[in-house]
Amino acid sequence: MLNVHQYSLLSLSLSLSLTTLALFLLVSAQEDHQQDTPIARFQRYLRINTAHPNPDYSPAISFLKLQAQSIQLQARTIEFTPGKPVLLLTWPGSNPSLPSIILNSHLDSVPAEPSKWVHPPFSAVRSPDGKIFARGAQDDKCIGVQYLEAIRNLKAKNFVPTRTVHVSYVPDEEIGGVDGAAKFVASKLFQELRVGFALDEGQASPGDEFRVFYADRSPWSLVIKAEGTPGHGSRMYDNTAMENLMKSFEVISRFRDSRFDVVKAGEAANSEVISVNPVYVKAGIPYPNGFVMNVQPSEAEAGFDVRMTPTADPDLMRRIIAEEWAPAWRNMTYKITEKGPLRDYTGRPLVTPTNDSNPWWSVFKQAITAVGGKLAKPEILASTTDARYLRQLGIPALGFSPMTNTPILLHDHNEFLKDTVYLKGIEVYESIISSLSSFEEASH
Ligand SMILES: *[C@@H]1O[C@H](CO)[C@@H](O)[C@H](O)[C@H]1NC(C)=O
Ligand SMILES: *[C@@H]1O[C@H](CO)[C@@H](O)[C@H](O)[C@H]1NC(C)=O
Ligand SMILES: [Zn+2]
Repeated sequence: MLNVHQYSLLSLSLSLSLTTLALFLLVSAQEDHQQDTPIARFQRYLRINTAHPNPDYSPAISFLKLQAQSIQLQARTIEFTPGKPVLLLTWPGSNPSLPSIILNSHLDSVPAEPSKWVHPPFSAVRSPDGKIFARGAQDDKCIGVQYLEAIRNLKAKNFVPTRTVHVSYVPDEEIGGVDGAAKFVASKLFQELRVGFALDEGQASPGDEFRVFYADRSPWSLVIKAEGTPGHGSRMYDNTAMENLMKSFEVISRFRDSRFDVVKAGEAANSEVISVNPVYVKAGIPYPNGFVMNVQPSEAEAGFDVRMTPTADPDLMRRIIAEEWAPAWRNMTYKITEKGPLRDYTGRPLVTPTNDSNPWWSVFKQAITAVGGKLAKPEILASTTDARYLRQLGIPALGFSPMTNTPILLHDHNEFLKDTVYLKGIEVYESIISSLSSFEEASH
């Protein structure tokens, strides 16, 4: 028997679950009858939380493996680092002697702050106007699913690729890819794939032209330290640590302005110049609730985010840092941490040609025009992707995420992708994959 208290609890939870059920039916009315549609599959992938700092890779791998199974792709999971799986799917070509193509995406995403979102970031709610909200909707779970949907459609049309098509899913891109793409491309397995051309993620386009990226900038972390004579805060004298650091700030500011002015004048894109931005300053003698105010400290330090363009001269940059930004004669030291390669294995810049010298480029371009798409002028990406590791091996690699008329929301609150844009992307990939995989001329 229930007592009154238990009864009211029961009715409360009943009415709660009825409300939840009603809400669920409302929200998912459109999804309910389409449990196995391209959009529902995208939503399922988005609902798997693979955000840092604790990306849950195994359910993502299981989901993708199931998808691969349903379209008869071969699947291999490799852990170059424990707990950080790489999933490799393969669609064998009719002429395996030709170099293969690889379609890459990353499994992880950056974290999200749920309180700043209109829908929970891992709900993949589709609004009445077709926006699918989720962390990873643009960066870059869309392409990971679109590759598979395109292959599913090509298989349904009995298309047979001439070249082998590989689809790879790598961990940890958002934290530099050291345990992900870097180890994967350095492996014997990767060598055996004999990859001739690669596609990786790009970025959304607010206009109606697709954007494509042929290079990334390479990040350097720069820390400079000044030492100087300590003394009373009231005294003006030369060569304090702060004075030495401030002189560096002036020089670095001038360098920054000279590059930024070129961008402001419209002569270059942001990503076509070397950027330098201060990210922290550390100095002073701590004191409860602040700093000691009447002592000039003996040490001062600052950190900078430097982005090198693919053709920038690293030796020249190092010389500028050593002689002008942190000169030893001003009692300064510095440390540069290069976060990724700047040159390929032959010493050339990590640039994929987007002209007739690269036969893959023409095929890629034509494949987009064939489905009514327009391609914007190829760009350098301001940040970095895993494509740099592929380019380091001399493999031509383009950064491409087929999203037109879409605000750039990667790493932002309320990241979304419209259902129509997502579906159009599948069509674009069908064209790209069929063209590239049946293209026979290019040897590696
Ligand atoms: C550098 O340090 C030395 C030794 O402490 C000092 O004599 C000199 O004045 C300092 N120079 C500058 C530019 O800070
Ligand atoms: C094609 O582009 C590459 C890289 O940007 C450049 O080095 C090369 O000279 C160009 N070749 C032609 C035929 O225009
Ligand atoms: Zn990404």
